[in-house]
Amino acid sequence: SSSTVYQATCSAPVNIAVIKYWGKKDTTLILPTNDSLSVTLDQDHLRSVTTARADASFKSGDRLWLNGEEETIKAEGRLRRCIDEMKKLRQAKESNDSTLPKLSEWTVHVCSENNFPTAAGLASSASGFAALIASLAALYELQPEVSSSELSRIARQGSGSACRSLFGGYVAWQGGEDASGQDSLAVEVAPQSHWPDLQALICVVSDAKKGTPSTAGMQRTVATSPLLQHRIKHVVPERMTKISQAIQKRDFDTFAEITMADSNNFHACCLDTAPPIFYMNDVSRAIVQLVEELNRANEAEGKGKLAAYTYDAGPNAVLYAPKANIATILQTIRHYFPNADFDDTFDLLGKGVNASHR
Ligand code: PMV
Repeated sequence: SSSTVYQATCSAPVNIAVIKYWGKKDTTLILPTNDSLSVTLDQDHLRSVTTARADASFKSGDRLWLNGEEETIKAEGRLRRCIDEMKKLRQAKESNDSTLPKLSEWTVHVCSENNFPTAAGLASSASGFAALIASLAALYELQPEVSSSELSRIARQGSGSACRSLFGGYVAWQGGEDASGQDSLAVEVAPQSHWPDLQALICVVSDAKKGTPSTAGMQRTVATSPLLQHRIKHVVPERMTKISQAIQKRDFDTFAEITMADSNNFHACCLDTAPPIFYMNDVSRAIVQLVEELNRANEAEGKGKLAAYTYDAGPNAVLYAPKANIATILQTIRHYFPNADFDDTFDLLGKGVNASHR
């Protein structure tokens, strides 16, 4: 044909942290001040789908569209760094095999779509950058020689939490010691199949764009919060170990206790920031009280906890629970929030934790 085209499409899931990442020790490389751990959601409700295309006839200058709008790829920006790192990996492959087309030297066009509101505290940057890296890895045929953990190291430089969306199931981001970021990457703690009984329920309190973007928020918390320093040194390390063990043992009560405690500690650090940052609102707090009360009542009957709540940089609640409890949770939420529907302040958007597919 007159013009040669190489193209790949990949989708990536959202992940919701149970041990939160909040704070960078290196803002360029995106090296976190603490380890974090998340659960990857299924792709039925929340996903990013990205197509990367290399065409010998494209004029110079890589381009990217997000939800139909072109984004500027800034010279020193995160998109530029991610694309360059992926081109470097392709170049290494080409230098080992001279028969390969020199795609590393070609212009690339990237087109990405989220099937949910961007920047609404629904982790769109995580699935977005994971899908970008996955689609470039497919375009450049990097796997299996390049591992998912190695790809996660690059996704991390797009958005920290994105590194965890390269895996399904239960995923840890090991913050690392190295100043170069070589050991700051995601690893699988357990595949989704290890604990398929755990479900996620997202309560969309508001899908409006969030007030303080995570980058600016983190910077302010790192600069001003003494509580964050306590969290980094004395709170997170022990929780990482304990929640990993709880996942291995499928111990929901411990998993839930740590998940809720860590969400509350993260939001306490936001409140401890000067000036303070508020991500949760009255509806978010009402859901906390409801879940706490449901858990108390369940435990009074000698049963375990019913559910765990967690909140990211926005007011939406993510509830984790064993499958058998989901109907009760939905019923109770509908009882206390009777006006909740897709047009109101309270929508139920997604449920189910499944393995991710790329
Ligand atoms: O990766 P970012 O910059 O979108 O930050 C994510 C921060 C939290 O969602 C609040 C916590 C986390 O670990 O995902």
